[in-house]
Amino acid sequence: PVASMEELMSFCRSRAIILESSGVYGGAATTYDFGPVGAQLKKNIVDMWWRDFVENRDDVAPLDTGVILNPAVWRGSGHVEEFTDPLTQCETCKRRFRADKLLEEADGGAEHWDGKTLEEMGAALVALGVACPSCGAKAEAGLGTPRPFNLLFETSIGPVQDGSSTAFLRPETAQGALVQGPLVLSLTRARLPAGLAQVGKSFRNEIAVGQSLFRTREFEQAEIQVFCEPESSGDLLQQWVEDCNTWLVDRLGLTPSRIRRRVHEESELAHYALATTDIEFNYPFGWGELWGIANRGKYDLLRHEAASGQDMRFRDPRDGGRTAFHPFVVEPALGVGRLVLAVLSDCLVTEAAPAAAKGKKQAPGRLVLRVPDEIAPSRAAVLPLMNKDGMPERAAEIAAALRRMGAGGVQVDTSGSIGKRYRRQDEVGTPLCVTVDYTTLEDGTVTVRCRDTMRQARLSVADIEDAIGPRGLTRDKLQG
Ligand code: GAP
Repeated sequence: PVASMEELMSFCRSRAIILESSGVYGGAATTYDFGPVGAQLKKNIVDMWWRDFVENRDDVAPLDTGVILNPAVWRGSGHVEEFTDPLTQCETCKRRFRADKLLEEADGGAEHWDGKTLEEMGAALVALGVACPSCGAKAEAGLGTPRPFNLLFETSIGPVQDGSSTAFLRPETAQGALVQGPLVLSLTRARLPAGLAQVGKSFRNEIAVGQSLFRTREFEQAEIQVFCEPESSGDLLQQWVEDCNTWLVDRLGLTPSRIRRRVHEESELAHYALATTDIEFNYPFGWGELWGIANRGKYDLLRHEAASGQDMRFRDPRDGGRTAFHPFVVEPALGVGRLVLAVLSDCLVTEAAPAAAKGKKQAPGRLVLRVPDEIAPSRAAVLPLMNKDGMPERAAEIAAALRRMGAGGVQVDTSGSIGKRYRRQDEVGTPLCVTVDYTTLEDGTVTVRCRDTMRQARLSVADIEDAIGPRGLTRDKLQG
């Protein structure tokens, strides 16, 4: 795989896969935009998640809730009070930093500082001799005792901006599902365990952003809130950890040794969680949380019940709603940007060319995005060998036919030598290239080339139907 984040991001930029947002104005507070290949890759990944975890399961249903909820939701949920990071300010240069992150760096990641008190962190900054990352001033000379900094993104509703108009952009998609959950489950006569899934943007005023898509202020989440009987929540959490991990390996094809599970210690649990297991991925910069699977217990439903005065119990449709209780919520929460970054960093590989024969020039290696067919931004490319004699027209016809067959995202590429075009398609993960040449015009056959094996086979256009099926390619003809 491509070794460093710098290499990966510079490759992504050079192919317009991922771009810094508002680049002509110098960027926008760590927002990233996805260009054509990136946008399609992200969509295909999310679509696969949606098919596998929502459409193909009978215990999860779709949901789509708002970004700007009633601000009372965030008071009820505890976010207004508790959704904070510990911030320390350097008294010399006045810059602010996350104290827990500084401490983690200083002790080499030996401890998780998430759950420590502000005073404990302040003392540790001094004890570990932490210096200001910006100006180098030592903690004892004035990296102040950390203070809580709230991560909610504020906005205001309506023309008058005063305290009463303050609202928040959601910091997680979860609360939309949690406040609507009991109602939705009862109206849809759901049986537990019952999951509600949604994908959408969330916003956090993060202090320590960085590592490209890994930590941004605006990001996409794919979350499921699974309402369940309290007694089954422990096993259910384990089952979801298992399902999510298996999916990453079996469906997305991520390298198993780059995935690990980390059970949260008591002290680092989020304010709402009884237990959490993170699935972490080994990014080019090191291990980082990709998927957080938490048991939220009945924390949220009890808080919203107290704050709203509404009954937040689940009523069992099987006995006409006579059984009513507060379900527990198990929540697999996935960051879409982090997943795209994991896929790119795992699948983009540099392959050395076979050693050149004596006296021959060594061919350069090739860069290949070895993504599974189902998420490839483009399923196939059709390449006219020459830009004349009817080949571009024939290529366009074949591409249109392939699209009609449901191959999706089929591109025609006419620019540059055929070798360069193969390389370009390799880099953006196109599994198959179909080349139209003079023989095609005579007998209707084309050359089909496989991205991974670089094998080529002469097939009739009708044959490609076997090779490029709707929603999935079979490359058997090229593999054998
Ligand atoms: N509802 C639970 C929840 O939101 P979280 O661990 O704070 O839990 C879930 O977030 C996932 O969202 C994380 O595992 C991560 O993949 C992603 N995520 C969180 N903050 C992020 C950020 N600032 N930038 C990118 N992804 C983020």
